[in-house]
Amino acid sequence: MRLSHVLKTALKLPRIYTGGMVPLKVQHYITYRCNLRCSFCDAWKNKSREMDTGQIKEAMDIFKRHGAISWSISGGEPFIRPDFPEIMAYARSKGFMTSIVTNGTFPERISKVKDSTDLLLISIEGDRSETDRYRGMGTYAKIIRTLEEVRKHGINANLNTVIKPDNRKQLRYIISLAKEYGTFCGFQPLFDYMRGGREVQEILESKTKLRGLLGNIDFLIEEKRKGSPVLNSLAHLKYLKNYGKEDFKKLRCFAGRNTVLLEPDGTLKMCYWDPNPVPPGNLEESLKRVSKPPHGCYCWPKCHGENNLMFSMSLEAIMNATKKI
Ligand SMILES: C[S@@+](CC[C@H](N)C(=O)[O-])C[C@H]1O[C@@H](n2cnc3c(N)ncnc32)[C@H](O)[C@@H]1O
Ligand code: SF4
Ligand code: SF4
Repeated sequence: MRLSHVLKTALKLPRIYTGGMVPLKVQHYITYRCNLRCSFCDAWKNKSREMDTGQIKEAMDIFKRHGAISWSISGGEPFIRPDFPEIMAYARSKGFMTSIVTNGTFPERISKVKDSTDLLLISIEGDRSETDRYRGMGTYAKIIRTLEEVRKHGINANLNTVIKPDNRKQLRYIISLAKEYGTFCGFQPLFDYMRGGREVQEILESKTKLRGLLGNIDFLIEEKRKGSPVLNSLAHLKYLKNYGKEDFKKLRCFAGRNTVLLEPDGTLKMCYWDPNPVPPGNLEESLKRVSKPPHGCYCWPKCHGENNLMFSMSLEAIMNATKKI
């Protein structure tokens, strides 16, 4: 995060805390198409028309006027779109802080976004056999080529890994890989897209699996305390320890108040699991109709959780984010 962005955010706080809405961060699911079929992911199953380049640029103009400072692209796989570099360049020209979540399988396209990307988040499950097992044969080799490109062009990058019940060895591997490439690594537990982002039933039904997953979160807490390059804040990792609990204090949710989600076709949501999406149309008008957060939602994805903790004034989460300014 840049210092100027922190200051701009601070100026908008009174409005956000008094129930108003400033879409500081736009999470843009630019496409739901994907070249991979990771075994735990359902995102690619969404079918959606996609805005064309001009419509996306227009959306950026509108959000800029409404106070957006950060444009975060995910999917599906963003690099699948041939106009992706042009879209990134436009986001840069609007002064957005830009980030991309990618599966890292397009190493030859990385140089095209090197001047327009503030943060590249590369998803990887572990060593070669683990990554290829979950993400498809040959994926690991491409991710390593992407990491080499990142190093060559001096792009700011992080690794993204899913915490599973049985992947302790892989978590260790990812931390050492992050050290090797001078990056951080962020973690989120396996959740179920189709059940509102809740816990995976199979894990809830098995004491061994749940214990394994919670033990892995404890391991990450230890690593964080030791100074390993774990991107999550301690506050977020501690929150994740609620996975599988019946009753726990939910995070105060700021979705729809400081962040919005833009789907490939221009549908506007407060969060992926918004029960009342605003269909594509006049974005200016749609912004007035975005839902307010529900009461007591689960919040396992890392970016959502960290945002909610920061805006709930968790010092740990704020310090953790500002360390990278
Ligand atoms: C849906 S992907 C989209 C971006 C890109 N295709 C990628 O793989 O990074 C975004 C992130 O969600 C994670 N993810 C996908 N399915 C998940 C699940 N069921 N539980 C937790 N994280 C998941 C992926 O590992 C990835 O880091
Ligand atoms: S690469 Fe990303 S979007 Fe594609 S299937 Fe895997 S996790 Fe899902
Ligand atoms: S609590 Fe988290 S998952 Fe639920 S709506 Fe808010 S940001 Fe989304």
